[in-house]
Amino acid sequence: MATWDLSQTKLHVLFCNGSSCNNWGAEEVTQAIRDEVSKRNLDNLVHTTRTRCNGRCDDRCVAVVYPSGDWYKGLEPEDASSFVNSLVLNRDLTGKISHTFTGDGFVREEGISKGIAKDPIKVKKVSKKF
Ligand code: FES
Repeated sequence: MATWDLSQTKLHVLFCNGSSCNNWGAEEVTQAIRDEVSKRNLDNLVHTTRTRCNGRCDDRCVAVVYPSGDWYKGLEPEDASSFVNSLVLNRDLTGKISHTFTGDGFVREEGISKGIAKDPIKVKKVSKKF
């Protein structure tokens, strides 16, 4: 267990470690990117967290970055350096972004599966809380 000082944190990366992503190497992706972050002395700026399934299993291995709201897909350990470049140098990680947050929802990149529509009644109940 740990209680980190997040006062210097600028980016939060959520690594999906749900079963589909894990079957495709999510643990190796997580470790490779964490190693790259540490190698560049970015641990204070980039906080990382493992999650359970993020509901985009077709896109495995998935990572989500906040506050940008970018969703990454198809990550592999070999992407670690490019992924960190995309975070801190704002360089495009070609073909690995699946969704981008616009402030009014997430825009899906071309060629990314749409997925299954959520139950509109349940979604309506949730959105009333906001
Ligand atoms: S297991 Fe990663 S999105 Fe479902």
